[in-house]
Amino acid sequence: MSLSVVVLAAGQGVRMHSALPKVLHPIGGKAIIEHILSTVSKLNNPRIVVVYGAKGEQLQAALAHHQHLSWAAQEQQLGTGHAALQALSYLADSDRVLILYGDVPLISEKTLTELLTSTPKDGIGLITVQLENPTGLGRIVRDSAGKLQRVVEEKDATAEEKKLTEINCGFFLVPKQYLQQWLPKLSSQNAQKEYYLTDILTRANEQGVSITTVSPEYSWEVMGVNDKCQLAELERIYQWQQAKKLMQQGVMLLDPARFDVRGNVQVGQEVVIDANVILSGQVSLGSSVKIGPNVMIKDTVIEEGAEILANSVIENATIGKGCVIGPFARIRPGTVLAEKSRIGNFVEIKNATVGTQSKINHLSYIGDATIGNKVNIGAGTITCNFDGKQKHQTVIGDHVSIGSDTQLIAPVTVGEGVTIGAGTTVTKDVPAKHLIHNRVEQRIIANWAKAEEE
Ligand code: UD1
Ligand code: CA
Repeated sequence: MSLSVVVLAAGQGVRMHSALPKVLHPIGGKAIIEHILSTVSKLNNPRIVVVYGAKGEQLQAALAHHQHLSWAAQEQQLGTGHAALQALSYLADSDRVLILYGDVPLISEKTLTELLTSTPKDGIGLITVQLENPTGLGRIVRDSAGKLQRVVEEKDATAEEKKLTEINCGFFLVPKQYLQQWLPKLSSQNAQKEYYLTDILTRANEQGVSITTVSPEYSWEVMGVNDKCQLAELERIYQWQQAKKLMQQGVMLLDPARFDVRGNVQVGQEVVIDANVILSGQVSLGSSVKIGPNVMIKDTVIEEGAEILANSVIENATIGKGCVIGPFARIRPGTVLAEKSRIGNFVEIKNATVGTQSKINHLSYIGDATIGNKVNIGAGTITCNFDGKQKHQTVIGDHVSIGSDTQLIAPVTVGEGVTIGAGTTVTKDVPAKHLIHNRVEQRIIANWAKAEEE
């Protein structure tokens, strides 16, 4: 019996009040349905069918990189049972089918594996949980011996049934042959006039098919997203899990409640992260890296001992060992900083390589440039890299000293050991070890009387 997975994602998601399909809303920067797909794909690579509805094109476009998904259309949203029925023709007759709701993102591999291993091959399994407040959810009805009878939806429940606190989480494991028998015969005689998937449990009991229930380790694993409050709640839970994982690896988070991971983070030892830091994409932080408050880092490698000071934004860069960045620095894609370079406040760097121990400390723009070792770039220096049509390179040799307020009109090469006086506009290549300046000479006009103010 091989496993297949059916993800129900055709619902309108009306309560989200959004043009974006519900299952594409992000948790930790990743779509709800992507969380589900990456968890289920760890279960022995099952065949996966996604049941889609009205916003199907948008969903298919967003998941186009998953090459092996099958797509089953549900033209009208007539209920979860009707949705599951649409997937049957994509499944093999001998399959064991795990049906899950596309709006429950944080289910763990561990809980799903337990469902797979505890449920007999010819029986049905489902995940249930006890909740203090089960409002809105389908209640599990058991007989006096504790045997599961059926699920009753909130809208169909009697006052007595509403007091039940064990709920259906929306994960069913059923042999395909039963789905084939039961789903086409579901009835929609209920408060919502829908074909409920949960009604297969009644059929199972009638035919003496065994029903096994499994509970998740954490109740947040089975929390669904129906509106933006629940989305925000799950985001916080997810972020707390990310923070915990990093703290367990030794990271010191000064406030884990004000820390966000939207991707994957690798860390060395003794990393310290201050409040309001957002890490996105693939981020690697070497040992003893320190990150100040209000910093955003995306797809970047930060090597051992580097320090990122407050309010800096770094994207697609490599920050070498022992560098100090910021406060208020903007490091843009394609930046590679060698060891111990220093980038200060209000400096923007893009597509540039900076050698070891070079300093760009204040108010500069360095774009499309190669800068040597031990270069000192004064405040307000600008590489004029764009001529209106094309970008051009600036190359600066080792040990160059550039005075404040210098413009380098690219393409231009400044040789090793050159000194450039403050206020210079460099328009031609400069040979090694020369001093250049072209600032306008100062004139002093004596005894100047200002026009009298009226
Ligand atoms: C469902 C369960 C309820 C359970 C709860 C857990 C049923 C009848 N009810 O209720 O017992 O406690 O989930 O979260 O199953 N969908 C479709 N097509 C449809 C209807 C729904 O694909 O026609 C999809 C939705 O996109 C969603 C999922 O099925 O991903 C669940 O649907 P939803 O309407 O959210 O069901 P609940 O009312 O939450
Ligand atoms: Ca739901």
